[in-house]
Order: sequence, then C-alpha cells, then structure tokens
Amino acid sequence: KPAQFGVAGMGVMGASLALNIADHGFSVAVWDRHPESIQKVQQANPKQALQGFPELEKFVAGLERPRRILLMITAGAPVDEMMGRLFPLLSPGDVIMDAGNSWYLDTRRREALCKEKGFHFLGIGVSGGEEGARNGPSIMPGGPKDAYALVQPVLEAIAARSEEGLCVTHVGPEGAGHFVKMVHNGIEYADMQLLAETYDVLHRGLGLDTATLADLFSKWNEGIAESFLLETTIKVLRKRDPETGKPLVDMVLDKAGQKGTGKWTVQVALDLGVPVPSIASALDARNLSSRKDERVAASKKLHGPAISLSSEEKKELAQWAHDALYAARVVTYAQGMRLIQAASDEYKWGVSLAEMARIWRGGCIIRAKLLTPLREAFKQQPTLPNLMVSEAFAPVLEKMAPAWRKFVGAATMAGIPVPVFSSSLAYMDSYRSPELPQNLTQAQRDAFGAHTYQRRDKPDAGFVHSDWLK
Ligand code: 6PG
Repeated sequence: KPAQFGVAGMGVMGASLALNIADHGFSVAVWDRHPESIQKVQQANPKQALQGFPELEKFVAGLERPRRILLMITAGAPVDEMMGRLFPLLSPGDVIMDAGNSWYLDTRRREALCKEKGFHFLGIGVSGGEEGARNGPSIMPGGPKDAYALVQPVLEAIAARSEEGLCVTHVGPEGAGHFVKMVHNGIEYADMQLLAETYDVLHRGLGLDTATLADLFSKWNEGIAESFLLETTIKVLRKRDPETGKPLVDMVLDKAGQKGTGKWTVQVALDLGVPVPSIASALDARNLSSRKDERVAASKKLHGPAISLSSEEKKELAQWAHDALYAARVVTYAQGMRLIQAASDEYKWGVSLAEMARIWRGGCIIRAKLLTPLREAFKQQPTLPNLMVSEAFAPVLEKMAPAWRKFVGAATMAGIPVPVFSSSLAYMDSYRSPELPQNLTQAQRDAFGAHTYQRRDKPDAGFVHSDWLK
C-alpha cells in the first residue's frame, strides 16, 4: 500500500521526524543514501510503520498522490541536487518540503522553480533539536497556502503543543518560514550568549561554583525568567565529568562553533537596515572565542583590572543578573521581531508576530515564559513599532533597567566582557532617546564631503549645505 508521507534524509533530525510522523498513525516511506541509516530508523520503529527505500525511484513510486516528500538534508547545494533528482520522478501537484535550515532566498527561488514545473514547494523551519523532532518540534512552514493545506494534518499531528495551542501555523508565502526560523536562531545565539555572560560574571566575578550557580538558575527558572535554554544551562552545569569528577563544563574548550544561521540573521538585518546589536554581539562573541591562540597571547600584553567587588556588589550581583538577563532577553526578542516585521513588509508576507510568538511557545529552542506576554503585546497591537514600548514590557524594562546598568557596570569595572548585555542596553538607551548625537554625524558628513543636512528650525527647507571649514 502506498505510504502517506515520505521523508528523505535519515540523519538524526530526519529519522526523528519520520518516527514522530509514524507515531501519529501515518504510514511513512523513508529514503537515505546509506542503507544502514534506513535500517537504523526502521529498527527504532517496532510497529513497522516505516517502509525503507534505498532507491529514490522506488521511494517516490511508493508514495500516495499527491506525493508529500519532506527533505531533511544538508542545506545548500544538496537540496538543489536532490530536487533535480526528484523532478523527473514526480507528478503535477506533488509537494516537496525542505525542512533544513535553508537560506530564505534559496527557498524563494526553489518555490518559483517548482511552480514552473507544476509542483508545490514549502520551506519549513523546524526547531527543537533531536528531542523536539522526535516528540514535538516547533514548525515554521512557508510557501503557498494551498500546498500547506495538503500537509497541514501531518504537521499539526507532529508539532509540539503548548498551553497556547499547536506550535505550527502557516507563516507566510515563499521563504517566510525559513526566514522566521533563521531569526529564531539569531535570537537563540543572543540568548545563549546572555546566559554565558551571566555564568561568567557570577562564576569568575562573584566566585560562585557551578553547583551554586545551577541552584540559583533553578530558582530563576521557577519565575518569569523560565526558558528552555536556562533549563538546559542548569543541566549542563550539574553534569559531572565521569573521568575526572569535575564539572563537565569546565572540561569544554572555550571555542564556539556555528553553522551559519546567526551570521545570516545579521547579514540580512544589515541589508534591511534593521539594528540587531544583541544578535551581532553574540555572533562576534563566538567569532572572538574561536581565536583562542590570539586571546592567550593577548592576555600577556593587555592586562585587565583585578576583580574586586564592593560589598554591595557582592550582595546584590545575583539579583542584578536576574533582572539584567530578563530585560536583555526582552530586548533581544524585540530586535528579532522587528527584523521579521521588516522582511514581512519588504516581501509582503503578512507574517503575524503574535502567531510567531505562539508557535515558539513550545518545542523550539527559544521557548520561554516571556513569549506569553510577548504574544499578547503583538496581539493587542499588531503594528507595535518595537516590543520595548509595549504596555506589557515598557514598565518592566524601566523597572529592571537600574539593576541591568549596575550589572553591566560591575562587570565592566571587573574587566569581564558582557557584550550582549551592554549592546542590548545601548540599543534600548538609543531607542528611548529623542536626541541622539547624529546631528554631529550629519555635520561631519557635510563638512568633509558636502553631503548636506536638514535644519531642525526649517523642516521644509530640505537638505542644505554649509561651509564648515571657513
Ligand atoms: C533548533 C536549533 C538548530 C541548531 C542550529 C544552530 O532550532 O533546533 O536552532 O537549528 O541548533 O543549527 O546551530 P549552530 O549553533 O551550530 O549555528
């Protein structure tokens, strides 16, 4: 009997998704280049709801029509290659889904190509890692709505569920789904870096050991700061190295890797002229961390201050850190949301930010309690220019800002870098300033390059030039 759904690519994510789909009563055909990978996933499904096909032709022929084929393969050229192999085997009306972390403009191009050939194409962001894929990810599908309707029952069956409903919705046309997933990852980078900075200041600055930190973070995780990444951090801090008995995190080399979605987020933000300093600082922090040799050499040339906290700082630092973390996280999400809005405006995608907050509430890596008021803020005011000025968050930011400033101040005086805490604070301070010093920037531009400027007192006069140097 033909299978209802096809999954191509039996890596960790593909296999987990296939098993998840099968668990929900759909018959699934799976394909992979390596027969061993197919066997492995079939063994993991004792009910034998998975039919394995090492040959692509048979895999495609074994699917009910219109065929629904989800690709979970390496983003980039492999997706184009795979599509090229599939095209001659498909029939009009079949649906190809790309569930990898693909570049949204590739998704746009691929959708157009499929349309030309009479096929449907969906670019689907999937978040939640292996665990999420297996038991309920957050799913961000983009593409034609009629194509989405063809796969909606399957995606809804496998998606995570939160108290706010199913963590899947049609994000928008074209590359909207992959764009939103990319920004999700950008926020993920910034949130992870905020946690790393918190850990650093409290560990190196205040001298808290990993066990004490884990206890403190657990307390935080019971309140408004609750998040999956905080929970993961607690687990990481509690883990002991079986070989040495030391905290395992202490054994990990401090060079962060990356696969590119954070970099893309910053690149697109620059192109769209949307400031995302928290995400950019997080990316830079990873890039700087990877230059370990240089840092070790530099530490012998550039010396920082001795870490000595005042008794007030010692007493208050942990509480400041809590408030700073919450506030900076709000600012980070604000930047990500603003970026999604800008792309949605640019491409006329009609993305609902409230809905994005809702489908991120469960399953994904950046799921967090604050997404509930965040969703509410965009629900009440879909055209909110920035989350920071919402009725829900403006008072919270104002209340937490003093602690946040003290935290950044104490860390800075101790010579402990807090790039995302400080750049987020500067972003908020800039955004809330009716006056910025860019009057000087404009004057400089006009002085050295006759780039002209506008006068405050003559708004109708247009752009004027002065001779500044005489
Ligand atoms: C997810 C994750 C997942 C992965 C990214 C980021 O939502 O499940 O974001 O997509 O963690 O690939 O990884 P890097 O840190 O390696 O860039």
